[in-house]
This record gives sequence, structure tokens and C-alpha cells, in this order.
Amino acid sequence: DDFEGRGVWRYSAALPFEMGVSLPEGDTPLHHVPRLEEEIGIERLRVKHEGMNPTGSFKDRGMTVGVRVAEELGVDRLACASTGNTSAALAAYGARGGMPTLVLLPAGKVAAGKIAQAALHDARILEVDGNFDDCLDIVQDLAARGEVYLLNSLNPFRLEGQKTIGLEILEEFHADHGTYPDRIVLPVGNAGNTSALYKCFRELVQSGALDADDVPKLTGVQAEGAAPMVEAIEEGNDEVRRWPDVETIATAIRIGNPVNAPKALPGIRQTGGTAVSVTDEAITDAQRSLASEGVGVEPASATSIAGLRKLREQGVVDDDEQVVCLTTGHLLKDPDAAFAAGNKPESVPNDTEAILDHIAE
Ligand code: F0G
Repeated sequence: DDFEGRGVWRYSAALPFEMGVSLPEGDTPLHHVPRLEEEIGIERLRVKHEGMNPTGSFKDRGMTVGVRVAEELGVDRLACASTGNTSAALAAYGARGGMPTLVLLPAGKVAAGKIAQAALHDARILEVDGNFDDCLDIVQDLAARGEVYLLNSLNPFRLEGQKTIGLEILEEFHADHGTYPDRIVLPVGNAGNTSALYKCFRELVQSGALDADDVPKLTGVQAEGAAPMVEAIEEGNDEVRRWPDVETIATAIRIGNPVNAPKALPGIRQTGGTAVSVTDEAITDAQRSLASEGVGVEPASATSIAGLRKLREQGVVDDDEQVVCLTTGHLLKDPDAAFAAGNKPESVPNDTEAILDHIAE
């Protein structure tokens, strides 16, 4: 295969196969953002931009493994519930693997770019009159009845692929700076990525490749209107209470029942990390800050920067820390949010002199 040994598959020793259904995925940039680093006031800040994957989110790392498993099993139909990105990735990887896909979306709550992807990659799109958590309940019922093969992050093979985010961060950060990051800050929805990173670190420590002291503190960020994980961390609960009503501009993480919480909560606690919630306004500010350094992300992704800002202000993050923030999805995923947060187009006459006058104003 052309893409063998590339991106995610460079780490095949840590994966269940030598090769998957690949577009290819992984090998995303670790950006230097000097102005944000200075403003937030920490020793070192890097941004791992997962929006640079083939369908524009980190979900591709999971799907390349998950869809390969589906191929091995010979299933008839792939399915997921989604706030948008999982459905876009599943549609593309299903198409690549030649398997039909079914996606369940919360009606009216999925960003335009994501639905466009699912549509063109030929997924059958069901818009459910309910939220994401309802969609996930239903698709689990369908899977239990043998109707579909489930490719949400409840599927453990997806998380195997997503471990490679951690492998890439540690490898590249160490190559550049001779140390490992003290902390990794990431958006949390279903907490699949948090679980995957924790598994990555545990395996590295168990194999002797990483010192237990060098494991980065896993730090999760949620939107204030959808923050059940933050509630559990703040209250010291072992179980996460399901929030029936959730709302946030960061529709990707508009989730009230993080199904991977049993795996993610220990990850946050054992690594000495924490969880924090941020307002929609802080999310938009962070999205603009990243954009002003050339890094275009969707709102959910900007929560990592918004969360780091808040934790720094609270003194939870020290000024001598080296931090990697994960940005999970591309700006173009949510064009409406970008229009709302950014400059408005100005209409001008079809005339050079008039345009000169206009821009001189
Ligand atoms: N960021 C983005 C852009 C996402 O799309 C998601 C999840 C997350 C963060 C949260 O990741 O669930 O591993 O904690 N999106 C899912 C979807 C739910 O359907 O696309 P998590």
C-alpha cells in the first residue's frame, strides 16, 4: 500500500494491524504560536493541529483502524451518532473501504461543513429530533440488534488509532526540545481522546519507553453549557452525572453523557491533570487568537486555548510549564461560526478609484 509506514501507520507496532484503510492520516503539525505563548505567560506553548487530517479532524486516526476492523469482520453497514466530525470521517473512510454508512445527527445542531462531507461521501444521513446523546443511545440499540457496526469512540479500535496523537506529540516535542511536555490540554466531549492519550502513556510507561515522571498532565476542557466531566472532577465523583440539556457554540462537544468517562476520569486524576469549563465568549476569543497566528480551528478546538488561559489566570498552570494544546478540528468545518467571529465582507463598487477611497476610510 502506498501509505504504509506513513502518519498513523508509522506507529503500527502500537496498533492491531500493519496497515489500515488510509487516506492517509496523522503527521499533523505542531505549531509554534509565539504571541499566544507570550500572552498566556508560560515557558513553552505548542499547538497540535488535528484539523489538518484528511477530513479535517482527529477522528480520521480512529477511523483508519476502525474501518479496517469492519473490513476484517465483513460487516454490511457502518454507523455512528455524531455531532458532525465523526460522521464526516466515517463517511469518507467507509467510502474508501467500499462500505455503506449510516449516520445519526442531532437535527439543527451540526455545523454545515460536516454535513456537507457526510453528504458527498455518500453516507445515509438521519437527522434525529433529539441531542447527540439520544442519537448515541439509538445507534447502540441498532448495533445491539446486529443492524450496524458501531464506529463511535465506544469502539475500542478507534481509540487505538487515536493513541498516535500522543505518540506524535511526545516524539516531536522531545526531538525539538529534549524534554516532554508537562501538560496536554484538550477539548472533551465523549472523552474518547482523553482515554486514548491515557492508554498511550500507560503503554509507554509499561514498556519502559517513558518514565512515569514524564507523563504529561491530562487536562480536559468543556464548554460551560456541557460540562459533566468538569463537574465530576470538581466534586470528586467517580461517576459522571448525565446532563439532559446542553448548549454551546462549540457544537462538536455539545454532549451531556460522556460515554468514555470511566476510562478518562482516572486518566485525568492519575496524571495529575484537571478539567475546566469555559464560556462561549472565551471560546470565540481563543478561536480568534489562534486565527491571528494563522491557525484556523473550529470553536470546539479553541476550548483548549481558552481552558489554558483560564487555568493560567487561576494559577493552576505555572509560568515555567511547557504545554501542548490540542486543536481537534479545522476552521472550515463550521463556516457560520467563522463568519460570526470574524470580519464582515464590505461591498464596494466595481471601480479602482472608489475602492481606493473606500480603503482609505
Ligand atoms: N473536538 C472536536 C472537533 C470534536 O469533533 C470532538 C468530538 C471532540 C473535540 C471531543 O472529543 O469525544 O474524544 O472527547 N466529536 C464527536 C463527533 C462527538 O461526533 O464528531 P472526545
